[in-house]
Amino acid sequence: MRTVTKDNITDVFTAYFGDDTDPRVREVLAALARHIHDFAREVNLTHEEWNVGIDFLTRAGDITTPERQEFVLLSDVMGLSSLVDMLHSTPEATSSSVLGPFHVSNPPPLAIGGDMKGDFEGEVLLVEGTVRDTDGAPIAGAKLDIWQTAPNGLYSSQDENQHIHSFHGLMTTDENGRYAFTTVRPVSYTVPDDGPVGDILRAAGRHPWRPSHLHYIASADGHKTLVTEVFPDDDPYLDQDTVFGVRDDLVMTYVEEPAGSFPDGFDLSGKVDGPYSRVDFDLVLAKA
Ligand SMILES: [Fe+2]
Repeated sequence: MRTVTKDNITDVFTAYFGDDTDPRVREVLAALARHIHDFAREVNLTHEEWNVGIDFLTRAGDITTPERQEFVLLSDVMGLSSLVDMLHSTPEATSSSVLGPFHVSNPPPLAIGGDMKGDFEGEVLLVEGTVRDTDGAPIAGAKLDIWQTAPNGLYSSQDENQHIHSFHGLMTTDENGRYAFTTVRPVSYTVPDDGPVGDILRAAGRHPWRPSHLHYIASADGHKTLVTEVFPDDDPYLDQDTVFGVRDDLVMTYVEEPAGSFPDGFDLSGKVDGPYSRVDFDLVLAKA
Protein backbone atom coordinates (compact mmCIF):
# COMPACT_ATOMS: atom_id res chain seq x y z
CA MET A 1 0.00 0.00 0.00
CA ARG A 2 1.59 3.28 -1.11
CA THR A 3 -1.07 5.78 -0.05
CA VAL A 4 -1.49 5.56 3.70
CA THR A 5 -4.27 7.57 5.31
CA LYS A 6 -5.46 8.08 8.85
CA ASP A 7 -8.38 5.83 8.04
CA ASN A 8 -6.55 2.90 6.38
CA ILE A 9 -3.32 2.83 8.41
CA THR A 10 -4.59 0.02 10.64
CA ASP A 11 -5.36 -2.19 7.64
CA VAL A 12 -1.98 -1.31 6.11
CA PHE A 13 -0.27 -2.34 9.34
CA THR A 14 -1.98 -5.73 9.18
CA ALA A 15 -1.13 -6.13 5.48
CA TYR A 16 2.59 -5.72 6.23
CA PHE A 17 2.73 -8.99 8.25
CA GLY A 18 4.90 -11.69 6.73
CA ASP A 19 3.17 -14.87 5.56
CA ASP A 20 4.93 -16.99 8.17
CA THR A 21 4.08 -14.74 11.13
CA ASP A 22 3.04 -16.82 14.14
CA PRO A 23 -0.80 -16.67 14.28
CA ARG A 24 -0.91 -15.61 17.93
CA VAL A 25 1.73 -12.91 17.36
CA ARG A 26 -0.33 -11.68 14.40
CA GLU A 27 -3.54 -11.64 16.48
CA VAL A 28 -1.98 -9.80 19.45
CA LEU A 29 0.01 -7.26 17.41
CA ALA A 30 -2.86 -6.51 15.02
CA ALA A 31 -5.23 -5.90 17.95
CA LEU A 32 -2.62 -3.78 19.73
CA ALA A 33 -2.12 -1.61 16.61
CA ARG A 34 -5.89 -1.32 16.11
CA HIS A 35 -6.42 -0.10 19.67
CA ILE A 36 -3.43 2.27 19.60
CA HIS A 37 -4.64 3.78 16.32
CA ASP A 38 -8.21 4.06 17.58
CA PHE A 39 -6.92 5.64 20.78
CA ALA A 40 -4.97 8.30 18.85
CA ARG A 41 -7.96 9.03 16.59
CA GLU A 42 -10.42 9.11 19.50
CA VAL A 43 -8.48 11.67 21.56
CA ASN A 44 -7.01 13.44 18.51
CA LEU A 45 -3.55 12.94 20.03
CA THR A 46 -1.27 15.97 19.56
CA HIS A 47 2.49 15.90 18.95
CA GLU A 48 3.05 17.43 22.39
CA GLU A 49 0.97 14.72 24.08
CA TRP A 50 2.69 11.98 22.07
CA ASN A 51 6.06 13.39 23.24
CA VAL A 52 4.88 13.28 26.86
CA GLY A 53 4.09 9.60 26.35
CA ILE A 54 7.49 8.85 24.81
CA ASP A 55 9.20 10.75 27.63
CA PHE A 56 7.16 8.78 30.17
CA LEU A 57 8.26 5.44 28.69
CA THR A 58 11.87 6.61 28.55
CA ARG A 59 11.81 7.60 32.22
CA ALA A 60 10.10 4.33 33.16
CA GLY A 61 12.94 2.46 31.42
CA ASP A 62 15.60 4.61 33.08
CA ILE A 63 14.28 4.01 36.61
CA THR A 64 13.74 0.27 36.16
CA THR A 65 16.22 -2.06 37.88
CA PRO A 66 15.98 -5.70 39.06
CA GLU A 67 14.52 -4.30 42.32
CA ARG A 68 12.37 -1.52 40.85
CA GLN A 69 10.11 -2.57 37.93
CA GLU A 70 8.29 0.57 36.82
CA PHE A 71 6.54 -1.17 33.90
CA VAL A 72 4.94 -3.75 36.21
CA LEU A 73 3.86 -0.87 38.45
CA LEU A 74 2.42 0.91 35.40
CA SER A 75 0.50 -2.24 34.47
CA ASP A 76 -0.73 -2.51 38.09
CA VAL A 77 -2.05 1.06 38.42
CA MET A 78 -3.65 0.94 34.95
CA GLY A 79 -5.59 -2.18 36.01
CA LEU A 80 -3.97 -4.38 33.35
CA SER A 81 -2.30 -6.77 35.82
CA SER A 82 -5.61 -7.37 37.62
CA LEU A 83 -7.51 -7.72 34.34
CA VAL A 84 -5.08 -10.41 33.12
CA ASP A 85 -5.51 -12.17 36.51
CA MET A 86 -9.30 -12.11 36.20
CA LEU A 87 -9.26 -13.32 32.59
CA HIS A 88 -7.54 -16.54 33.71
CA SER A 89 -9.08 -17.09 37.13
CA THR A 90 -11.27 -20.18 37.64
CA PRO A 91 -14.79 -19.18 38.84
CA GLU A 92 -15.24 -22.07 41.28
CA ALA A 93 -11.77 -21.59 42.83
CA THR A 94 -10.56 -18.81 45.14
CA SER A 95 -10.05 -15.59 43.17
CA SER A 96 -6.53 -14.75 42.13
CA SER A 97 -4.99 -11.36 42.86
CA VAL A 98 -1.83 -9.51 41.95
CA LEU A 99 1.57 -11.07 42.72
CA GLY A 100 3.23 -7.69 43.20
CA PRO A 101 6.98 -7.12 43.04
CA PHE A 102 7.96 -8.11 46.60
CA HIS A 103 7.93 -11.92 46.55
CA VAL A 104 11.34 -13.46 47.26
CA SER A 105 12.49 -16.87 46.06
CA ASN A 106 13.38 -19.74 48.42
CA PRO A 107 11.27 -18.67 51.41
CA PRO A 108 12.20 -20.44 54.67
CA PRO A 109 10.02 -23.39 55.77
CA LEU A 110 7.35 -22.41 58.30
CA ALA A 111 5.92 -25.31 60.35
CA ILE A 112 2.18 -25.43 61.10
CA GLY A 113 1.75 -23.31 64.24
CA GLY A 114 4.97 -21.43 63.44
CA ASP A 115 5.53 -17.72 63.89
CA MET A 116 6.61 -14.95 61.48
CA LYS A 117 6.28 -12.07 63.96
CA GLY A 118 9.50 -12.67 65.87
CA ASP A 119 10.55 -9.59 67.81
CA PHE A 120 8.57 -7.11 65.70
CA GLU A 121 6.17 -4.77 67.50
CA GLY A 122 2.42 -5.09 67.02
CA GLU A 123 -0.62 -7.14 67.88
CA VAL A 124 -0.39 -10.86 67.20
CA LEU A 125 -2.50 -12.08 64.26
CA LEU A 126 -3.35 -15.79 64.14
CA VAL A 127 -4.02 -16.94 60.57
CA GLU A 128 -5.50 -20.34 59.83
CA GLY A 129 -7.53 -22.15 57.23
CA THR A 130 -7.96 -25.17 55.01
CA VAL A 131 -6.90 -25.75 51.42
CA ARG A 132 -9.53 -27.66 49.44
CA ASP A 133 -10.24 -28.66 45.86
CA THR A 134 -13.33 -27.51 43.96
CA ASP A 135 -15.23 -30.63 45.19
CA GLY A 136 -14.59 -29.58 48.80
CA ALA A 137 -12.00 -32.27 49.52
CA PRO A 138 -9.06 -31.11 51.69
CA ILE A 139 -5.67 -31.07 49.96
CA ALA A 140 -2.92 -32.54 52.13
CA GLY A 141 0.64 -31.48 51.34
CA ALA A 142 -0.37 -28.25 49.57
CA LYS A 143 2.41 -25.64 49.64
CA LEU A 144 1.57 -22.12 50.83
CA ASP A 145 4.19 -19.47 50.11
CA ILE A 146 3.15 -16.56 52.35
CA TRP A 147 4.56 -13.03 52.64
CA GLN A 148 3.60 -9.59 53.93
CA THR A 149 4.85 -6.20 55.06
CA ALA A 150 6.55 -5.58 58.38
CA PRO A 151 4.70 -3.17 60.73
CA ASN A 152 6.65 -0.27 59.14
CA GLY A 153 4.83 -0.92 55.83
CA LEU A 154 7.94 -2.24 54.06
CA TYR A 155 8.64 -5.65 52.55
CA SER A 156 11.99 -7.21 53.36
CA SER A 157 13.35 -6.46 49.87
CA GLN A 158 12.66 -2.72 50.44
CA ASP A 159 14.13 -2.51 53.94
CA GLU A 160 17.81 -2.91 54.73
CA ASN A 161 16.94 -3.36 58.42
CA GLN A 162 15.04 -6.60 57.72
CA HIS A 163 16.49 -10.01 56.88
CA ILE A 164 15.48 -10.88 53.30
CA HIS A 165 13.30 -13.73 54.65
CA SER A 166 11.59 -11.58 57.28
CA PHE A 167 7.79 -12.05 56.97
CA HIS A 168 8.20 -14.78 54.36
CA GLY A 169 7.40 -18.45 54.99
CA LEU A 170 6.63 -21.69 53.15
CA MET A 171 4.00 -23.85 54.89
CA THR A 172 2.80 -27.34 53.97
CA THR A 173 -0.80 -28.30 54.83
CA ASP A 174 -1.39 -31.29 57.13
CA GLU A 175 -3.39 -34.44 56.34
CA ASN A 176 -6.63 -32.43 56.77
CA GLY A 177 -5.49 -29.65 54.45
CA ARG A 178 -5.05 -27.29 57.43
CA TYR A 179 -2.51 -24.54 57.89
CA ALA A 180 -1.98 -22.10 60.76
CA PHE A 181 0.63 -19.56 61.80
CA THR A 182 1.09 -16.34 63.74
CA THR A 183 2.31 -12.98 62.51
CA VAL A 184 1.57 -9.30 63.05
CA ARG A 185 -1.28 -7.56 61.32
CA PRO A 186 -0.01 -6.33 57.91
CA VAL A 187 -0.46 -2.60 57.30
CA SER A 188 -1.74 -0.49 54.40
CA TYR A 189 1.14 0.80 52.27
CA THR A 190 1.84 2.97 49.26
CA VAL A 191 3.20 1.71 45.95
CA PRO A 192 6.41 3.54 44.92
CA ASP A 193 5.21 6.97 43.69
CA ASP A 194 8.55 8.79 43.33
CA GLY A 195 8.90 7.87 39.63
CA PRO A 196 6.95 8.38 36.39
CA VAL A 197 4.05 6.16 37.53
CA GLY A 198 3.67 8.48 40.53
CA ASP A 199 3.29 11.34 38.03
CA ILE A 200 0.36 9.48 36.44
CA LEU A 201 -1.30 8.95 39.83
CA ARG A 202 -0.92 12.65 40.71
CA ALA A 203 -2.13 13.79 37.27
CA ALA A 204 -5.22 11.60 37.71
CA GLY A 205 -5.86 12.82 41.27
CA ARG A 206 -5.25 9.32 42.64
CA HIS A 207 -3.51 8.17 45.83
CA PRO A 208 -0.84 5.43 45.88
CA TRP A 209 -2.33 3.34 48.75
CA ARG A 210 -3.08 -0.37 48.88
CA PRO A 211 -5.23 -1.93 51.61
CA SER A 212 -3.26 -4.18 53.95
CA HIS A 213 -3.00 -7.81 52.87
CA LEU A 214 -1.27 -11.15 53.19
CA HIS A 215 0.12 -12.60 49.96
CA TYR A 216 -0.23 -16.31 49.13
CA ILE A 217 1.00 -18.56 46.36
CA ALA A 218 -0.83 -21.87 46.86
CA SER A 219 0.29 -24.92 44.90
CA ALA A 220 -0.48 -28.63 45.00
CA ASP A 221 0.10 -31.59 42.69
CA GLY A 222 -2.67 -31.87 40.09
CA HIS A 223 -3.98 -28.35 40.78
CA LYS A 224 -3.61 -24.92 39.23
CA THR A 225 -1.24 -22.71 41.21
CA LEU A 226 -3.12 -19.81 42.79
CA VAL A 227 -1.56 -16.38 43.40
CA THR A 228 -3.77 -14.39 45.72
CA GLU A 229 -4.10 -12.03 48.70
CA VAL A 230 -6.36 -11.75 51.75
CA PHE A 231 -7.64 -8.38 52.99
CA PRO A 232 -9.24 -7.36 56.32
CA ASP A 233 -12.78 -6.02 55.99
CA ASP A 234 -12.07 -2.84 57.99
CA ASP A 235 -9.21 -1.42 55.90
CA PRO A 236 -9.89 2.19 54.80
CA TYR A 237 -8.46 1.52 51.31
CA LEU A 238 -10.50 -1.61 50.60
CA ASP A 239 -12.74 0.20 48.10
CA GLN A 240 -9.91 2.09 46.40
CA ASP A 241 -6.96 -0.26 46.05
CA THR A 242 -4.63 1.58 43.67
CA VAL A 243 -3.77 -1.70 41.88
CA PHE A 244 -7.37 -3.06 41.75
CA GLY A 245 -6.55 -6.30 43.64
CA VAL A 246 -9.60 -6.63 45.93
CA ARG A 247 -12.23 -9.34 45.25
CA ASP A 248 -15.23 -10.08 47.48
CA ASP A 249 -14.10 -13.59 48.39
CA LEU A 250 -10.67 -12.33 49.50
CA VAL A 251 -12.06 -9.97 52.19
CA MET A 252 -12.06 -11.53 55.66
CA THR A 253 -12.95 -10.37 59.16
CA TYR A 254 -10.08 -10.15 61.61
CA VAL A 255 -11.81 -11.24 64.83
CA GLU A 256 -10.56 -9.62 68.06
CA GLU A 257 -9.96 -12.30 70.70
CA PRO A 258 -9.71 -11.48 74.42
CA ALA A 259 -6.57 -11.62 76.54
CA GLY A 260 -5.86 -15.06 77.95
CA SER A 261 -7.57 -16.98 75.11
CA PHE A 262 -4.56 -17.75 72.90
CA PRO A 263 -4.76 -21.45 71.93
CA ASP A 264 -2.28 -24.31 72.33
CA GLY A 265 -0.39 -25.76 69.41
CA PHE A 266 1.50 -22.61 68.33
CA ASP A 267 5.09 -21.50 68.82
CA LEU A 268 3.64 -18.48 70.67
CA SER A 269 1.37 -20.57 72.94
CA GLY A 270 1.92 -19.44 76.54
CA LYS A 271 3.63 -16.22 75.35
CA VAL A 272 0.62 -14.12 74.26
CA ASP A 273 -0.93 -12.50 77.34
CA GLY A 274 -2.90 -9.67 75.69
CA PRO A 275 -5.68 -9.65 73.10
CA TYR A 276 -4.91 -10.87 69.60
CA SER A 277 -6.71 -11.11 66.24
CA ARG A 278 -7.69 -14.20 64.35
CA VAL A 279 -8.55 -14.70 60.68
CA ASP A 280 -9.80 -17.77 58.86
CA PHE A 281 -8.90 -17.92 55.19
CA ASP A 282 -9.76 -21.08 53.28
CA LEU A 283 -8.38 -21.53 49.79
CA VAL A 284 -9.98 -23.48 46.96
CA LEU A 285 -7.67 -24.70 44.17
CA ALA A 286 -8.89 -25.64 40.72
CA LYS A 287 -7.84 -28.94 39.20
CA ALA A 288 -5.07 -28.61 36.65
FE1 LIG B 1 1.68 -6.49 48.78
